[in-house]
Amino acid sequence: MSSQPAEKHWLKNDLVLGIETSCDETSAAVIAHGCQILSNVISSQVETHKIYGGVVPEIASRQHLEQLNRVIDLALQDAGVSLQDVGGIAVTCGPGLVGALLIGVSTAKSMAYAAQIPFVGVNHLEGHIMANLLLGNDKENVNPGDLRIRPPALALLVSGGHTELISWQEDDSFARLGASCDDAAGEALDKIARLLGLGYPGGPALEVAAQLGNKASFPLPAVAMAGTLDFSFSGVKTAAINSMQKARQQNRAVEVNDVAAAFQAAVFEAITSKTAQAITIHRPEVLLVAGGVAANKVLRKSLQDVCHHLKVNLSIPASLLCTDNAAMIAAAGYRKLSRGLCSPLSLNAYPHLKLDDSENLVYHESCYLYDR
Ligand code: KG4
Ligand code: ZN
Repeated sequence: MSSQPAEKHWLKNDLVLGIETSCDETSAAVIAHGCQILSNVISSQVETHKIYGGVVPEIASRQHLEQLNRVIDLALQDAGVSLQDVGGIAVTCGPGLVGALLIGVSTAKSMAYAAQIPFVGVNHLEGHIMANLLLGNDKENVNPGDLRIRPPALALLVSGGHTELISWQEDDSFARLGASCDDAAGEALDKIARLLGLGYPGGPALEVAAQLGNKASFPLPAVAMAGTLDFSFSGVKTAAINSMQKARQQNRAVEVNDVAAAFQAAVFEAITSKTAQAITIHRPEVLLVAGGVAANKVLRKSLQDVCHHLKVNLSIPASLLCTDNAAMIAAAGYRKLSRGLCSPLSLNAYPHLKLDDSENLVYHESCYLYDR
């Protein structure tokens, strides 16, 4: 392969353009040196999907198509750079909605080809974890910036589609230690919020309602999956739905805020206790928290308490960097592009991509991509 020394730095101006279109946010960002956010433009489709109570895939693809060029132009403009200044492009290529992913992947490929710069396909889940590398001057960041984030580390991913405990290993690979056997935490929160009439997306609305509720007024069974680091949320979800139906049949009022408080507490207690078990077993130096549900203040506080108690460092990105955004994709892509690794123009969209998928994500050395 290449005779270039490993230390060679590949990126012009050390700038990466990130593109994210896996679900219902159209986002583009420019980051410098793999950690400094110069711009992070997020165009949310929430208002469109709200009326349907969830994401409609065909509408999501169409909106990405309509918005992406404008969002990319804005990201370059906000960062004060042009495409010619950018060293490489990082794009989410899975997992996610196939039509939505294809808009980002084909845009990244055409831009990279036109500008004759390398591009790299990024696993969305890896992007969430790498959000922890981004420096936020935001006070919300749990990591104050002096904690060096590098493998080995333990990661907790809590998003709309995934609830997983992951070992980020020294050789930069990922191993799944535990995962939800059924619903992801975000999915379960969204479902109960919808049944409570709190709209879409449910997680943030449930957080607000839960602040006003009393969890003891709506008893729910504890979420138990003894002897494994796996999760299961469908049992507690069904118990909540059954209790609400029973109350309505008996003409008892269902107090929305109490249900919200009880359900959120049950889900978060399961997440925190499994995370504590994983820390006790694997003794990592640092716990990296990632994914949209990590924007929740109650969960952030419980994880802070657990890590303090178990004497483990904790990193949680600012809330805006926990939910879908392109800066996290650029951060994950930077780690590959800066080492000369990129994707071929034959890269596809992979809706079911796993964190340890080495079959679909094969990286090439960028010097071979274009004749330079
Ligand atoms: O990571 P993300 O933005 O998208 C996926 O990759 O899935 O996560 C979206 C999920 C949704 O289920 C949403 O309800 C949840 O994150 N979420 C929250 C909060 N903000 C977003 N859940 C609880 N509290 C929040 N503040
Ligand atoms: Zn996500």
